[in-house]
Parts: sequence; C-alpha cells; structure tokens
Amino acid sequence: MKTTIAKVSEYEGQTVTIGAWLANKRSSGKIAFLQLRDGTGFMQGVVVKNDVEEEIFNLAKNITQESSMYITGKIVEDSRSPLGYEMQVETIELIHEAVDYPITPKEHGTEFLMDHRHLWLRSKRQHAIMKVRNEIIRATYQFFNENGYVKVDPPILTGSSAEGTTELFHTKYFEEEAYLSQSGQLYMEAAAMALGKVFSFGPTFRAEKSKTRRHLIEFWMIEPEMAFVEHAESLEIQEQYVSFIVQSVLENCKLELETLGRDTSKLENIKAPFPRISYDDAIELLKEKGFTDIEWGEDFGAPHETAIAESFDKPVFITNYPADIKAFYMQPHPERPEVVLCADLIAPEGYGEIIGGSERINDLELMKERYEQHGLSGDAYKWYLELRQYGSVPHSGFGLGLERTVAWLSGVDHVRETIPFPRLLNRLYP
Ligand code: 4AD
Ligand code: MG
Repeated sequence: MKTTIAKVSEYEGQTVTIGAWLANKRSSGKIAFLQLRDGTGFMQGVVVKNDVEEEIFNLAKNITQESSMYITGKIVEDSRSPLGYEMQVETIELIHEAVDYPITPKEHGTEFLMDHRHLWLRSKRQHAIMKVRNEIIRATYQFFNENGYVKVDPPILTGSSAEGTTELFHTKYFEEEAYLSQSGQLYMEAAAMALGKVFSFGPTFRAEKSKTRRHLIEFWMIEPEMAFVEHAESLEIQEQYVSFIVQSVLENCKLELETLGRDTSKLENIKAPFPRISYDDAIELLKEKGFTDIEWGEDFGAPHETAIAESFDKPVFITNYPADIKAFYMQPHPERPEVVLCADLIAPEGYGEIIGGSERINDLELMKERYEQHGLSGDAYKWYLELRQYGSVPHSGFGLGLERTVAWLSGVDHVRETIPFPRLLNRLYP
C-alpha cells in the first residue's frame, strides 16, 4: 500500500510504502535510524540489522543525505516522536543517490542558505514555515468565502499607482510606460461597486531600497474591499479576519508550531476585539516611553511601532493618522479634516504593521482635489474617478501583508524565510 507520512496514523500495524528523501541519519553496528521526509512530513524509519536482508542494512547504513527512495515497512506507534509513529523498515528501493548535498546538519551562514534557497526549502524549519503560510492562505479563502465575499483578481501590469509613485517598478508595455502593481486596491474598489464585497490575493511589488527584516521587494497581499462599509465596521471585519487566521493556524499547524519552537501561549488570546489607539494618543504614549523627539505629523518607524505594540498583548489598531503622511484616497475625518479615517494594525512582539486600511473618499470633487495635490496625472485615473461619478457609496478596504503575518505566527524574525523565493534588495537568485 502506497501512502504518505501525513497519513500514517491510518495505517498503524500495516506495511506501507512511502516515496521519501533522507533528511538525516544515525546508525550503529546493529541499527540505523533514518530521518525520512516526503513533503507531507517527517518520520523516523528504523532499520534493524537482524530483521532485514544484509544488502538492505548496508544500504541504510550508507545512504546519503537527500537520496531518494521508496521505503517499505510496518507503521508502529512511537510516543517519543512528535508525529506519534515510526516505520519498522523492511526494504528500501533506492531511486537516486545524492552526492555531497551542500546543506549538512551543521550550522550554515544566512547568505549561504539564501544562495541555496531551492534546497534550503527542504529543511524541517522551512517546511514548517511554508505549511503555516499555506494555512493562512487556506483560512483566508475560507473566511471570505463564508462571509459572502467574491475573489477578484486585479491586474499586475498597471498604468496607475495606488501607494505613491516613488516605489514603482517601471516596465515597458509595448510603446507605453507601465508599472508592476504596488496594490490591487484601486481595481478592487471598482470590483466592490460591481460585486459588493470582494477580496484579492496576489503578488505586489515595491521598489523600496529598504533593507529591514520586514521588507520584501515582492510580497503577497490579501486585499478585501467592501461597498457600504464605513471605517468602524471595516475595523471589526479586520479583527475578525485576523482572529480567524490565528486560531486556524493554532488548530491546524500544531506540529509545525512545535517544530518552530513557537510560544503558542502568546497566540491563544488573539481573539477579537483588538484595542484601538488614535495616532494622537500614540504620539503621547511614545513621548511617555522616552521618544521625546517625535512630533505630531511624523510617520512611525519600526522602533515606534514596536514600542506601541509592547503596551498591548493583542494586535493594536493605530487610527486616524495625519492626512499628509497617508495615501491620496483616504476619507478625511468628518470633524478633523487634517486626519483621515484609516488604521494600521500592528502585530504584537515587534512584528510591526501587518495591515494598512482605510475608508475611501467617495466624493468626486474631493477625490480630484486630493489626487492632484499628490501630483498624480489625470488620464491613468480617469476610470478611478468615474467610480465616484456613477452611484458613489461609502466603502472601505484594507491590505494584509502575508509574509509579515507568516513571520509573526511562525515566530521567525525575518521575512526572507516566509516566502519560497524571497526578492530582497540585491537578491534575485535563486
Ligand atoms: O500599508 P500598505 O502599503 O497598504 C496598501 O497597499 C493599501 N493599498 C492596502 C489596501 O487598503 N487595500 O500595505 C499593506 C500591507 C502592510 O501593512 C504590510 O503588512 C504589507 O502590506 N507590506 C509589506 N510586506 C512586506 N514587504 C514590504 N515591502 C511591504 N510593504 C507593505
Ligand atoms: Mg502601510
């Protein structure tokens, strides 16, 4: 019977065959312990000299790291392994012998590992992080589908910019100038006017020369947009969505979180509602915490966000930032036009901003005024302005950065490990 490591619990006491690679190995004169991986998980295979043919024991003793094989044996319970099972190996059919696999069980430097990302992904830790990433994606589709949202795919090649023009990747679109999408938001606004509640999930690009543990050049964003939803309701949707993905990861990635050594007690109480603090109060809080230089009107950097987050044990919304430091499309506060109806959601434990969102301007004249103030040119935004011309309604939306969320839930300190092939400043290989 052919099966996978993820399914061995269904085969206790039975003999099965698994297609696997050798992750690691220990052996003595009489017994070999093979750490097997098959993509679905990791499992120990035990080869006892007296129980197998001599040729098989010799193969087990000499098999090299990352060699591939079909391995057959009986599945038995093993309370010491996190999986709960191991294989009593009966026979091994070698498929391919790997010679001198570069990533050995010893420590390697980050640059070396990054150069070998195509192989590094096979490690137990990277495997666990990719599974957490996958669970967040799965839970995202579940949450939005169950709540009546339609998945919409905005274009990647665009003629307009959502988040300011300085960080755009330029490319040629035949004779025209085009950009890689920084955010699907503007198109999602059009989609919300057609379908009510929509969400997107796709790659976005920022030509940011930032070299921090939170910045990627190419990252994936989940962008919901909702017609007839004002700012306060949007925050409720955000806290429910984030709670849902955290609880889904806790529920469905137990082994992975254990592999990663994640302190899950810090995630268990991540349940809606989340605290809210205004930008004004955040400035006061920072002053109290010793950031004496910060002035009203300045944007927050990573140290500020971390300091604010430390005052809370859940993610915290920082609301109503000054209009001048935010994007052109944000709806002004009705009583204080110098601030906008927006919020950034800051994750606990120093993981920083995971969501940026706002209510959008729905008045045509105000929108025209704002985008001109921001130096954006007319033609590329004609379609966007028309959304305010025909049945404009209050609407809000937000963008959750997938990699920062993976970093937070996995407890890894750099986003380079949260995406299969990270695009970083000075890194396009592999
Ligand atoms: O705050 P941002 O720039 O917001 C937008 O793009 C809005 N148009 C979204 C919307 O309202 N539909 O980006 C949203 C999130 C951030 O909170 C962060 O999690 C992530 O995207 N993000 C990055 N992640 C990794 N590397 C980068 N360079 C990122 N820039 C933003
Ligand atoms: Mg932001």
